[in-house]
Amino acid sequence: MPKVKITETVLRDAHQSLIATRMTTNDMIPILPAMDKIGYYSIECWGGATYDACLRFLDEDPWERLRILRKYLPNSKLQMLFRGQNMLGYRHYADDVVEYFVRKSVANGIDIIRIFDALNDIRNLETSIKSAKKEAGAHVQVAISYTTGEIFTDDYFVEYAKKVRDLGADSICIKDMAALLTPSATERLVKAIKKQVNLPLQVHTHYTTGLASMCLLTAVKSGADIIDTAMSPLALGTSHPPTESMIAALSGTEYDTGLDLSSFSEIRDYFMSLRGKYIKNGLLDPKMLASDTDGLIYQVPGGMLSNLMSQLKQAGKDDKFKEVLKEVPKVRKDAGYPPLVTPTSQIVGSQAVLNVINGERYKMVTKEFKRMIKGEYGKTPGEIDPEFRKFILGDEKPITCRPADFLKPELDKLRQECSDWIEQYEDVLSYAQFGQVAIKFFENRRNKKFGIDKEHFDKENGVHPV
Ligand code: CO
Repeated sequence: MPKVKITETVLRDAHQSLIATRMTTNDMIPILPAMDKIGYYSIECWGGATYDACLRFLDEDPWERLRILRKYLPNSKLQMLFRGQNMLGYRHYADDVVEYFVRKSVANGIDIIRIFDALNDIRNLETSIKSAKKEAGAHVQVAISYTTGEIFTDDYFVEYAKKVRDLGADSICIKDMAALLTPSATERLVKAIKKQVNLPLQVHTHYTTGLASMCLLTAVKSGADIIDTAMSPLALGTSHPPTESMIAALSGTEYDTGLDLSSFSEIRDYFMSLRGKYIKNGLLDPKMLASDTDGLIYQVPGGMLSNLMSQLKQAGKDDKFKEVLKEVPKVRKDAGYPPLVTPTSQIVGSQAVLNVINGERYKMVTKEFKRMIKGEYGKTPGEIDPEFRKFILGDEKPITCRPADFLKPELDKLRQECSDWIEQYEDVLSYAQFGQVAIKFFENRRNKKFGIDKEHFDKENGVHPV
């Protein structure tokens, strides 16, 4: 029986889930040599929201972070999360930009690229999968966005997994970002996929609803090969099951991970001290650590509930909360059952709020909702009633091809636009995704090189003090 493998998420998803992705590279460096000795299957440490957070909040170059991680983790496989045609940004990018991003990620040290699409539209993954397959040594993992709803049968996920396999993925991940998996659903799904698709299967779930450890144990017993966990000081709550606890649970069984529990003490101590710092500076809100099953009752991710509440409060209609919760599944059905994950959770949520506070459904329609119905994000998993589509779009024609087919190559144009700031080839990718945020970062970087004290620079409100 092959050993169950562990992906450690403390350097990416754990801090993205608990402290808004604010762990700095300097927070990571001291413990990397110890982590490198553990023998993890992989360390998830890049991509997702980390790229945006580096530029926007931490004044760090994400590429520099990746090179540092590569240097201090020479024996570990580095894993990143990538949103297919969206890359790490908020729109679809042309194929030449996606190809370039994938190439540069591997060149700077990524071993495993986990790619997913919010709508599970396989066409949004084609370019990134193909690009990653071209890079020697890169492992392409495709993650299936897990969600619930009448069309999301085990067959739906198995069919998607087959498409993913046929495109050349090296492994598959069940990605349960909203913590909707239960142990019994996990068992059925893992067994169904393993039976029909002969690829390594990884399970990624969050602790939000308090079920994740049970789900991972069930997943392993049902044939999953790899599980995602987080070092205990940044586990639980909206993060993942604790690494050490899962290792202890599997120890001495036929699913033993082969990892030595005592080798984690130093790493635990280190992250405990960071945790203390994050609590003190307010980054870690203890509320994030309590489990909450409301997501299961309303079938919406926990984060979406608080968003809906704040939108209603702004409109002075917080008494309508229950009505909105009933409206969300209806809007989702009308829209073809998009899984509720960024950005679809915001799109469906805002439209449901509008439908309720206007007292008439679709009297007002948001721009984003219209774009989703038009097909600009890709094909939704369920069918959209043609009459409903016509009602929302009016005379506009829906898009039925791959959305990125409309995008002309844009890398050269982007390079020109930011040419004044480029100091490394990768900079164009920061600019492509984050525009003015990237420029601001480039500006700071240049000023630091001129030996300007950053604090002084900030006080001067961005004006060169000389
Ligand atoms: Co996650």
